[in-house]
Amino acid sequence: MAKNITTDPDLEQKIENLIAQMTLEEKIGQMSQVRHFDDISPEEIKTKFIGSVIHTQGPLPGNNAAEWQSKFSELQKQALSTRLGIPLIFGVDAVHGQNTYEGATIFPHNIGLGAAANPELVEKAAAITAIESKATGFNWVFSPCVAIPMNEKWGRVYEAFSENTELTAELTKASVIGHQGKFGNSGVLATAKHFIGDGATDFGVEGGSTTLSREEVLERLLPPYQAAIESGIASIMASFNTLDGIPMHAHKALISDLLKGELKFDGIVVSDWKAYSRFGQNDIINAGIDMVMAVDGDLDLFQEGVRNGVLDGSIPENRINDAVRRILRQKFRFGLFDHPFPDKTLIGKIGIPEHRAVARQAVRESLVLLKNENHILPLKRTSRIVVVGPMADNSGLQSGGWTVNWQGTTENYKDATTILEGIKKFTLHEVRYDREGTAEVENVDVAVIVVGENPYAEFFGDIGGEMNLFQLTLPEEQQKFITAYAKRGIKTVVILISGRPLVMTQQIEQSDAFVAAWLPGSEGDGIAEVLFGQFDFKGKLPHSWPKSVEDYKGKYGPNFWDNSIEPLYPFGFGLNYHNKL
Ligand code: BGC
Repeated sequence: MAKNITTDPDLEQKIENLIAQMTLEEKIGQMSQVRHFDDISPEEIKTKFIGSVIHTQGPLPGNNAAEWQSKFSELQKQALSTRLGIPLIFGVDAVHGQNTYEGATIFPHNIGLGAAANPELVEKAAAITAIESKATGFNWVFSPCVAIPMNEKWGRVYEAFSENTELTAELTKASVIGHQGKFGNSGVLATAKHFIGDGATDFGVEGGSTTLSREEVLERLLPPYQAAIESGIASIMASFNTLDGIPMHAHKALISDLLKGELKFDGIVVSDWKAYSRFGQNDIINAGIDMVMAVDGDLDLFQEGVRNGVLDGSIPENRINDAVRRILRQKFRFGLFDHPFPDKTLIGKIGIPEHRAVARQAVRESLVLLKNENHILPLKRTSRIVVVGPMADNSGLQSGGWTVNWQGTTENYKDATTILEGIKKFTLHEVRYDREGTAEVENVDVAVIVVGENPYAEFFGDIGGEMNLFQLTLPEEQQKFITAYAKRGIKTVVILISGRPLVMTQQIEQSDAFVAAWLPGSEGDGIAEVLFGQFDFKGKLPHSWPKSVEDYKGKYGPNFWDNSIEPLYPFGFGLNYHNKL
């Protein structure tokens, strides 16, 4: 199967020498990942021999990038002051840019990059994410998500590139290389996640059960991981779902035998959130998990549990050595022993125009034109335009989950541009803005109506799941915007902001032009550049587009094994100005 990545005998020797000096406590410490607040005090980094620190939701490490860096440097000093001085690695959920830092460049979520289907662009976006992550003190990102979503009800569809395995594998490669800089000291460790079956659970339930056959898993879900391993991925995160009725974290056959054995993955298998107490404690270590997110009260349970397991023989010591070897290997490969502290000169690169230009290109290329009757698009500079809906002038709403906060934000955020601001740059007339969709505007040629889903992340976004906050159709109050303008005979261009294809058959029918814009991120003005014809549409559907809610009666969405369901638009569909379809 996948070829082994380069092994360096000198490096391997260095690692073995270090392991030979380590006590059991030091080894277990290396396997521990904690948050920078709550889970530990700075001194405990030293006394508990912590291997990694994570920042995600919760108190910020500081008020600006310099403060973030110095907070992490302070923790790093603790680690370096231990007997063996092994540096920490700092991980972050930078899944579309360094999205935990307000003011960073925010790219379209992966579903948009799947629509753009441009590996070179994905590589550039990942390289910029690496720079801005390093500038805020990190050297490890929990990205890319390489799931193959098989049901649009899943709340994480947008974190993945596409329902198509080949496209996902191709973009995964580009993403890994972009993030990691080919093992260079310039890159950050990337993480392919969530291994395996996260997007293929029955009915799209986050962390649910995946009931595919082994052949289907190997054929449809595994190739992106093979691509990631061939590109030298540093880590792979285990998934919350079960497979074969076994929690993936405890699935020894897939983690140890397949991933590490057959596929020769030599990096870190990292657990997901609080996995130790959730998925069978030492079972996950014996299955092959190397580093554990020992957060939210799990740290002592984990450290003591593993220690007792080794002492009573239920965890073989060579399993612990394998885990530590993998962690140290990446710390050496990424130059952490030589350069443990963040580079202050990178701070000036956060959100710079060059980075935003790439994000804007990504926005432009991600837009999929589904309908353009009577060539209503491109818009003319002389058109009298009304822009409709709260999503049109809100950078938080246009960016989705994992933006500033875990669940995203419903507010404008620093240095981002909204869709309305972009449109204003192009028009010669004053643009009217009907935020509530109820104004009786007159003398307009065209209404640009922006509708879609409010931000969500993880299980919050599941449809019909635990939270049940979302639906497969457009919320009714937004459907009314389209109906109201169409009724008045005003031409309508509908822009859909969403993390997945929604059932919009009737709204597409009602509108004159329809654009799937996914979750574009901070550069909302990329949309106007295409609407006004400065650039052509390039995006192609990364998912087949459903026709009706009925299509979801089975386990999966349209086009998955059930050939009797015909999507409204197939995978790969997308119009442009040039071909004037
Ligand atoms: C998510 C991961 C994420 C981790 C750390 C989990 O809840 O499933 O994708 O990387 O949290 O924040």
